Amino acid sequence: MSESSQTPRPQFSQRTKWAKDQAISFLMQQAVENRDVISLAAGLVDESSLPVDECLRTFDGIFSDAAKGRLALQYGTTSGSELLREQLRIHLARQEHCPVDQLGVDSRQFVLTTGSQQLLALVGDALFDPGDICLVAAPTYFVFLGVLNGVGARTIAIETDEQGIKPEALEAELARLESVGELHRVKLIYLVSYYENPSGVSLETSRRREIVAIAHRWSKHHRLFVLEDAAYRELRYDGEDRPSLWGFDEGRETVILAQTFSKSFSPGVRVGYGVLPRELVGPVCDLKGNTDFGSANLNQHLLAGVLSSNRYVPHVEQVCAAYRKKRDVMLQALEREFQGTSGVSWLRPEGGLYVWLSLPKEIGCGFESEMFQLAAKSHRVMYVPGELCYPTDSPCRRTNQMRLSFGVQDAAGIDEGIKRLAAAVRERTAS
Ligand SMILES: Cc1ncc(COP(=O)(O)O)c(C=O)c1O
Repeated sequence: MSESSQTPRPQFSQRTKWAKDQAISFLMQQAVENRDVISLAAGLVDESSLPVDECLRTFDGIFSDAAKGRLALQYGTTSGSELLREQLRIHLARQEHCPVDQLGVDSRQFVLTTGSQQLLALVGDALFDPGDICLVAAPTYFVFLGVLNGVGARTIAIETDEQGIKPEALEAELARLESVGELHRVKLIYLVSYYENPSGVSLETSRRREIVAIAHRWSKHHRLFVLEDAAYRELRYDGEDRPSLWGFDEGRETVILAQTFSKSFSPGVRVGYGVLPRELVGPVCDLKGNTDFGSANLNQHLLAGVLSSNRYVPHVEQVCAAYRKKRDVMLQALEREFQGTSGVSWLRPEGGLYVWLSLPKEIGCGFESEMFQLAAKSHRVMYVPGELCYPTDSPCRRTNQMRLSFGVQDAAGIDEGIKRLAAAVRERTAS
């Protein structure tokens, strides 16, 4: 018997099983290993928008003063740099169109995280015991579905339309759960309020108010939180500048607002944050303390410097102008390639990074499907299968959709990518 066969096998936690085989890891790996494939899948941002000069200038400002430099290079605190949290209050007040002193939250309610993804994961950890329930928009951000699986939560999808999640469907589901004695297991409603990943839909304004009201109304056993993931809030190309759901939560007790600088500035700096109801700050920071007792302090000082300059807003305007053009290139290419093709439709996003494409119902688009294989292997183009964006057992789940990103490709890459995708779809529909 070999030595290795005598060694007892390791035994991993239940949570590793729940977290197994995340699609995000597969997609990232595919993008890296297949460089000749045009990836309309990757959620990466536009390379040319990345603020190299701005970072150089701001770091220069930090490191040309030795005391400032040392402060930035030292450990920070679990909830993050006070300097940045003060800047975030100003930033949020600008987004909310209100004076800073009327925001209704103090800087302790801002928790800085390693990207907003860490905030989402911490909220998941703070709220869910195995078997607890999260209500999500369908479709929604598939990486958060992974987080929910990872903590053993049950996920129930709520129907959406081109205006976002339907309040009446949300209310009906809560009533159903109450009638079967499960309301006490519902902890959270999760949605991406601006230019949803994957559908590009921005939640209609009156629905924002209604959803907050529903959460208040159904907080019967305990507080029912709403997690407003506003990752794409700053990437608005046209359409209404909508108020946040957070703004409708006057007591600041129900809505958790998650925001990030990944899309508007740089995902590499991994600076995201949550604006939390007061009672959630302690539990989230306790969990974060166990994980890292503070996200990268240096990057927080960088962001504080950028926000306190008058250069952040013009930078975001430039980024939006670049993405607006790329969105239009994708929409024009779709029009050219698919116009009049029966059963093919797509949504026009007013911001964000994604176009949501639907094919005829019978055409499955999942990783194992003929469509995906044809696209990736024969035509060298990749997309995110839409079915990943629904909980697996949901009646809302559809298999004939794809998420197309115009984030990382340049205009020529987007155009060529859609051309290849259309060729793959034509081949698939002819078979
Ligand atoms: C909807 C949504 N939320 C959160 C995130 C996490 O982003 P980050 O951790 O870079 O802030 C992403 C990333 O693509 C996203 O699309």
